[in-house]
Amino acid sequence: MIYGTPEHKELFCRFFIDTHRPFRPEELPWPDLGPETIEKLKGFPIWDYAVHTERQVFLKLSAYSREEKDPLLSEALALQAYEEGRHADILKYFLHRYGIPFTEMPEKRLPKNLEWCFMSTGAGECIDSFFAFGFLEISKGSQDYPLDLIKVMEPIVQEEARHILFIQNWLLYQRYSRPLHLQPVHYLQTLYAFFESGMSRLMDLKNLGGTSFTIQAREHEKSSLSPKDFINLCLNENKRRLDAYDRRLARPKLIPRIMGAINFFL
Ligand SMILES: [Fe+2]
Ligand SMILES: [Fe+2]
Repeated sequence: MIYGTPEHKELFCRFFIDTHRPFRPEELPWPDLGPETIEKLKGFPIWDYAVHTERQVFLKLSAYSREEKDPLLSEALALQAYEEGRHADILKYFLHRYGIPFTEMPEKRLPKNLEWCFMSTGAGECIDSFFAFGFLEISKGSQDYPLDLIKVMEPIVQEEARHILFIQNWLLYQRYSRPLHLQPVHYLQTLYAFFESGMSRLMDLKNLGGTSFTIQAREHEKSSLSPKDFINLCLNENKRRLDAYDRRLARPKLIPRIMGAINFFL
């Protein structure tokens, strides 16, 4: 597959549209939870932030999809926006269902450069998903939460796998459909987007009690895995979750490579 060609665009947009699963939050197989589990979930400090983040991504991506002139790209972007909005709705449904209190944070004004915005939220999503895939696997093995509740999360996490696959191919499409001399600029912008998102997550880790979803979740999970085993698990899970999709689509490489390199020194 030659990236940046109309065939490439057709491939990654069609893959995304064709693998979309229509469902409503209330149709998911929500289990009955005991008071102990609900208390534990109430203690999670991330709910306000998680709902707010998904909602913001929905708004930014919807606006960007309306700005995109290409009808197929616009359709795929609008669908990803819809799925992000559905993530917010699923979270809200879950919180209401189990009586977990949360406060809706006010919506922020949309940034001017929506393409950069998608690049930057996309980079963040690649980082978060990498760890979330490993984290979900650990949760399945631990007795911390009922397996039925983790199973409800499964299609949502797989949706994030589709998102990062779409984002990676969208990035390559944007880069290689540009004139040759502008491609390095796009590459540097992409690196910067990843650097910025990575730094903001590291800052969260530093000021424990920060807001990053991944890191907070990881903090709450008393896993007995060593960092090296955890990274290996994430690497395997990333590969496994993306294996199902068309081989011609480019896989996200940057985060797996960086984490692979870190693992080499651990
Ligand atoms: Fe999401
Ligand atoms: Fe997403």
